[in-house]
Amino acid sequence: MQVNSDLGPIGAEVSGIDLAQPLSDASIQNIRRAWLDHGVLVFRNQTLGPKAQSAFSGRFGEMDIYPFMQPLDDDPHVIPIIKEADAVLNFGGDWHTDTSYKERPPQATILYALEVPPVGGDTLFADATRAFEDLSPAFRATLEGLTGVYTPKMVHGQGGDYRKVAATAQLGSAYGGNHEFAESEVLHPIIRTHPETGRKSIYCSRPHTHRIQGWTRAESKELIAFLTRHLTQDQYVTRLTWTKGTLAMWDNRCLFHNALNDYQGHRRHMHRVIIQGDRPA
Ligand code: SIN
Repeated sequence: MQVNSDLGPIGAEVSGIDLAQPLSDASIQNIRRAWLDHGVLVFRNQTLGPKAQSAFSGRFGEMDIYPFMQPLDDDPHVIPIIKEADAVLNFGGDWHTDTSYKERPPQATILYALEVPPVGGDTLFADATRAFEDLSPAFRATLEGLTGVYTPKMVHGQGGDYRKVAATAQLGSAYGGNHEFAESEVLHPIIRTHPETGRKSIYCSRPHTHRIQGWTRAESKELIAFLTRHLTQDQYVTRLTWTKGTLAMWDNRCLFHNALNDYQGHRRHMHRVIIQGDRPA
């Protein structure tokens, strides 16, 4: 297995490995080490059915259930992410870390491309660790004392972004936004410490963090907007251009991502698996 880190400020492309084959524990350990070092790993030219994708994913931890999408009939851990050619809305089209409104958000997302548009549909990844480390020590110390109120409601709740645009039609019949959980709130720090590397990262995000505990929503939005602008500067961002058969595996504990919605008139079809993580601390 070769690891090439020319992808951008973060991330690496891994070659010389067929993920559909049974992999040894040593190979999985090598992948995990490279993943912790680079944040996002990209494997090209893979041929993976849902069972093979979940078999590979399950080697990295317990697979989790995404609360707003029905999984495939043939595998309860794989959800389809489809944007039809006539849809306007896409899934994941803002800077975020996956499902950070859960008590234990996923450590990893493993996304596989089945069909990609001829141009566009890239995913951007931002290094939320280096972005945090580049802030001034005094500002970092202030941020480390803050707790965020995280919730799915701005996206999936009553009046949320997806509800406003009849998301079931837009995101496919697998989407089910009508869920009690959509209005729930959980407290997490806005700066989290990676449980494996010990490094700190910005964690609060525009779509998932409603407010800073004890602050007004308006005050909170300004801080979150500042941090989002900061961490999405070019020096922290890698652009992944998908090809059919590409699999990407990213670390939600230290990276943000944003699925670009710039391919109107074309279909994009992905399969996604998430791996359960710890409670952010
Ligand atoms: C997501 O946010 O998990 C979707 C990313 C993508 O479709 O590129």
